[in-house]
Amino acid sequence: MDNSCHALCRALVTQNGLQPEHVDISQSVLYTSIMGLLLVTEKERELKLGTGQVGLCNVGNTCFLNAIVQCLSHTRGLRDYCLLKAYLQDKHSNQEPVLMNEFSKVLAALWECDSGDSKVNPGKFYRIFKEAVPYFSGYSQQDAQEFLRFLLDRLHTEINRRPSQRPAVIPNKEPTYSRFRISEEAFAMWQKHLDRDDSKIVDLFSGQLHSSLHCSICSHYSDTFDVFCDLSLPVPKVTFFTSFLVCADDVCLCICVSHTCCINTEQSYMMMLSVVKKSEYGRIVTLKECLDLFSQEEKLDKENSPMCDRCNRRTESTKRLTIQKFPRILVIHLNRFTMSRYSICKSSVTVSFPLTGLDLGPFGPVDCGPVLYNLYAVCNHSGTVNMGHYTAVCREEEGWCCYNDSCVSTIQEEKLQSNQAYVLFYELKSCSVHRK
Ligand SMILES: *[C@@H]1O[C@H](CO)[C@@H](O)[C@H](O)[C@H]1NC(C)=O
Ligand SMILES: *[C@@H]1O[C@H](CO)[C@@H](O)[C@H](O)[C@H]1NC(C)=O
Ligand SMILES: [Zn+2]
Repeated sequence: MDNSCHALCRALVTQNGLQPEHVDISQSVLYTSIMGLLLVTEKERELKLGTGQVGLCNVGNTCFLNAIVQCLSHTRGLRDYCLLKAYLQDKHSNQEPVLMNEFSKVLAALWECDSGDSKVNPGKFYRIFKEAVPYFSGYSQQDAQEFLRFLLDRLHTEINRRPSQRPAVIPNKEPTYSRFRISEEAFAMWQKHLDRDDSKIVDLFSGQLHSSLHCSICSHYSDTFDVFCDLSLPVPKVTFFTSFLVCADDVCLCICVSHTCCINTEQSYMMMLSVVKKSEYGRIVTLKECLDLFSQEEKLDKENSPMCDRCNRRTESTKRLTIQKFPRILVIHLNRFTMSRYSICKSSVTVSFPLTGLDLGPFGPVDCGPVLYNLYAVCNHSGTVNMGHYTAVCREEEGWCCYNDSCVSTIQEEKLQSNQAYVLFYELKSCSVHRK
């Protein structure tokens, strides 16, 4: 097999049409894919890995960075791509991929075989990152989710296979109002995206959201498609009940403690008297509820509604989000922080999440079968808004490990679920083919 693959590649590459400079897109993509494949299969045999169970020094309020880097270091597709330096083959811009180089060095140090010292210093990587993203300069605690977004965006820019920003040509089709129109339109929009933004980061992390707006006046559906690199899910507000005062049937009057309230930095709880259902007592929230909330139909009044394509004005409408294209790596951000006028509040509700077999099919296109994901890393946030600490838990060959800056320890699977889970990393396991 190996030999014939080599022969095939050599034959393809020496053919005139396959010089990367003067070929159309599909051929050049074929060329880079084959070369990439060749390189990876050749090098993969050389890739000798350690356990990866190495900590990262805290170089001054950098636990957010350490936790995210550990999660990314356990994203196998990305790790191997970095360790094999496959991006040197991929990149098409003339700029030196400085951040990618530095990021890869950190990963290489983490995965070195028999690394004598048990921790790695990410200082240089952080310095280069801050030069590229000045928003992060300064020494205060940063948000891990925000860091992840900026990091992936910067890395993508450096290794974009389409740096020239070719204008995309999309045929202007007459709307046909059929069920197929959605998937065709979505596909065209995705191609348009790939014409400008195509990289390993996109291969791994990018998906597509479908937002469907339904006009209440003319019943017209307007569809828009957006690329996402993570799903930021709202966490439902839950009230905890301390004691029942009076009950009648399944409702009770009780003293409640609202969890989502804090003023400035101090967490403070609000006590109130409320009537609640008995069945709600001591409830925890599931990830599915967060997804339901995310994708539930939302009523928009005239002022907040986008234009209806048909009425040509703002009308009352409903909006619904579904996942049109599923990413290989699904990053879920549990949006625990809510801004109010005077403060930021953090919800410390426990959100339970499945470790295997998270099914996103119900949030996909209408005729989508099961789409299953397995968890491989979690980024925890503990503490209050300003005085927080980030740690990571990652799946290993066997069991799970907790990465707390330079400390690495094994952790039992049962301990994964907590009220501190903040960013979840899932990997696509299987996706049943759905009709187009
Ligand atoms: C996340 O927080 C929970 C609850 O405090 C804890 O049990 C778990 O060990 C934490 N995980 C990490 C990796 O810090
Ligand atoms: C992380 O380490 C610090 C001390 O270095 C400790 O106080 C904290 O409890 C640890 N957190 C977890 C989740 O292990
Ligand atoms: Zn309308």
